[in-house]
Order: sequence, then C-alpha cells, then structure tokens
Amino acid sequence: MLSEGDVYARIGEEGFQRLVAAFYAQVPGDDILGPMYPADDLPGAEQRLRDFLVGRFGGPRRYEEARGHPRLRMRHMPFKLNQAARDRWVQLMDRALDQAALPADAVSLLRQFFHHMATFLMNTPS
Ligand code: HEM
Repeated sequence: MLSEGDVYARIGEEGFQRLVAAFYAQVPGDDILGPMYPADDLPGAEQRLRDFLVGRFGGPRRYEEARGHPRLRMRHMPFKLNQAARDRWVQLMDRALDQAALPADAVSLLRQFFHHMATFLMNTPS
C-alpha cells in the first residue's frame, strides 16, 4: 500500500504541478474562493500550495525553507473558513484530482488528506 511519504516518488514534481495548476485554474471564477485569494499573486499562492504538498508527501522541503513551519491553522485565520468555504475548496480540489489524471492509489491518499485538512482548518461556524 502506498504511504504518504511515497507519493512524491510516485507522481513526481510533475504530478503536483498538474494537480495544483488544475485547482488554481478554477479559483478566480469561483464566487466564494475567488475573492479570498490574492488576485495579483495567484502564481505565488499556487507555488506556496505546491511546495507545501511536495514537502508534506516526501519531496524536497522547499515550503519550510521559504516560509518556516507551516502552522496552517494560524495562516488561515485571516480568512472566513466556514462550512461553505470548506466544502467549496474540497469540491474544487476533487475536480482537480480528477483532471490531473494521477494514479488511483495516490489520488485516494491525497483526497483523504485534503478532506481532513480542510475540516481541521475551519475557523468559524457560519
Ligand atoms: C478549507 C478551505 C480553504 C480555504 C478557503 C483556503 C484559503 C486560502 C487562502 C485564501 C490562502 C492565501 C493564499 C496565499 O497567498 O498563499 C491560503 C494559503 C494556503 N493554504 Fe489554504 N485554504 C483552504 C484549505 C487548505 C488546505 C486543505 C490546505 C492544505 C492541503 C491549504 C494549504 C495552504 C497553504 C500551504 C497556503 C500558503 C500559506 C502561506 O505560506 O502563507 N489550504 N489558503
């Protein structure tokens, strides 16, 4: 069975690049998420998520070199992360996982991680 630390070896830089690009392609047109993300720095946001995921799943730890300890709950506090925002983020990422055409074992592991992490990051009920 594939473990989290092996996902990078399985899908490579390329796989994370395709996944995160497919996610961010949907962000600007989204009525909930679009306004939250920095319109003038979407490529920067894309790079931060990609680097984080690469490091989290067994690849080079570029995110921590650039940004320090992730502390993702703290970093999401400026945003109103309610159930609707959480569900929309997960919906866009599920679609990106479909579009990126990654191996099924990597997809199921990543999907589970995203669902849990998105729930954990919620910081307001409504
Ligand atoms: C639950 C719904 C979520 C919303 C609405 C949300 C929204 C945002 C926004 C608006 C940013 C700022 C963009 C930037 O300039 O970097 C951000 C940053 C970030 N998000 Fe999320 N996010 C969500 C879930 C997640 C999840 C599940 C993950 C991890 C799998 C994640 C990982 C990150 C990372 C790594 C950053 C960059 C943090 C930094 O270094 O400043 N987010 N998020």
